[in-house]
Amino acid sequence: MDISYILNHLGEDREHYFNAVAPPIIQSSNFCFKDVNSFRLAIENESKMPIYSRGCNPTVTILRKKLAALEGADDALVFASGSAAIASAVMSCVKGGDHVICVNKPYSWTTALLNDYLVNYNVTTTMVDGTHTENFEKAILPNTKLIVLESPNTFTLELQDLEAISKIAKKHGITTMIDNSYSTPLNQKPLALGIDIVVYSGSKYFGGHSDLVAGVICSSKERIHEIFSKEFMTLGAIISPHDAWLMLRGIRTLELRVNRSAESAQKVVNHLEKHPKIEKVFYPFASKNEQLSLAKKQMKQGSGLLTVLIKAKSVEDIETFCNSLKCFLLAVSWGGHESLIFPICAGKAPYTLPWNMVRLYIGLENPEELIADIDNALDKI
Ligand SMILES: Cc1ncc(COP(=O)(O)O)c(C=O)c1O
Repeated sequence: MDISYILNHLGEDREHYFNAVAPPIIQSSNFCFKDVNSFRLAIENESKMPIYSRGCNPTVTILRKKLAALEGADDALVFASGSAAIASAVMSCVKGGDHVICVNKPYSWTTALLNDYLVNYNVTTTMVDGTHTENFEKAILPNTKLIVLESPNTFTLELQDLEAISKIAKKHGITTMIDNSYSTPLNQKPLALGIDIVVYSGSKYFGGHSDLVAGVICSSKERIHEIFSKEFMTLGAIISPHDAWLMLRGIRTLELRVNRSAESAQKVVNHLEKHPKIEKVFYPFASKNEQLSLAKKQMKQGSGLLTVLIKAKSVEDIETFCNSLKCFLLAVSWGGHESLIFPICAGKAPYTLPWNMVRLYIGLENPEELIADIDNALDKI
C-alpha cells in the first residue's frame, strides 16, 4: 500500500464527521446502542467496535489501521507507553516455567522486565551477544518460548541478523519479537524477514514532537486478537484518545521527519568519523562499522541516533563538551524535532557503558549548524 495513501487517507471516514480533514478526538469512555441486537453485535466484536474505550475507541482505531498498514501487519494495538507494549508482548508469549532469550543491552526497562520482574513469576532469561547469530541457537533450552531482539539497540547500536535468527526460531517453534523503535517501519520491515511481533515506543518517531508517551504492537490477526483479549484488556495500559490524535498528527510527517533526521545523522557521522577528538563512532551505516554489510542487507538507512566515544581525559572534559553545546538539549529519549545529547556520565557510577560515551540524537535542525556546534564544543576540551 502506498505510504502517502496510508498517512493521509487510510482509516479515515470523513463523511461521518462533517468532512473534517483532521479526525475528531472521540473523548468518550462509553458508547451506547439503539437496540439490544446492536449492543449484542458490538459485544461480540469488542476489539473492533466501540463499547468502552479501554477496548476500542474510534480515534485510536484510525491510528491502529495506519500503523498496521505501515508495518505490513494484519493489525496493531496502541498502548500507554512503549514499555507497556513491550511488557504486554512478552507476557503474551510466556507463562511460569518458560525461558526467554534476549539480546544483550536492550532498552533498560526491557532488561528490568526480563531480569528483575518476570523472574518473580518463574520466567527466566538468558542474555546473549546478538552480533553472533549462533549464540541464539546455543542458548535454546527445552522450555524456550521467546527470543527478544532490539536491532539496533539504542546506545551501542549493534545489529542482529533478523532473517537468520527468525529461521532458527521457526525451526525450534520459538516466537520472535523485536523492538523496532530505532528504525521505524520505513527503514526496517521485521515481519517481512520472518519476525513474529514488532513493538515500538510510539513516544519516539511516531509521536515525533516530544509531546506524548505511547507504545505499539504489530503482528498477525490471531496474535493481536489474543493480546487484545488478555494483556491489553486486563492490564488496561491504553492510549488516551487525545494522545492517539497527537500521534495521528505526528505520523502525517513521519516519512519527512525520519528521512531528514537520518540524512542529517549520516552527515554528522561522516564528519565525526574523521574528527581527531573522536575515538569511535557507533552507527549502523558508519563506514568503519563491522556490521555495515548486515545494516545494508536489512535496513534502508540509519536513523537520528548515534553514539561516540570522545578522546577525553576526564569526566570533566565530557561535561565541558556537553555544557558547551548550544543546539543540543541535555535529555533522555529521542525521535522528536529537537537534537539531544545524553552522556553516560550523567548516570550513576559505576557506569555500565564507558564514561566517555555520549549519545547524540539528530533532530530536524540544519545539519551544518549542528556539526559546527559539535566542533565548537569539542574544541573546548
Ligand atoms: C528503544 C526503546 N524501546 C522502548 C522504549 C520505551 O518506550 P516508552 O518510553 O514509550 O515507554 C524506549 C524509551 O526510551 C526506547 O528507547
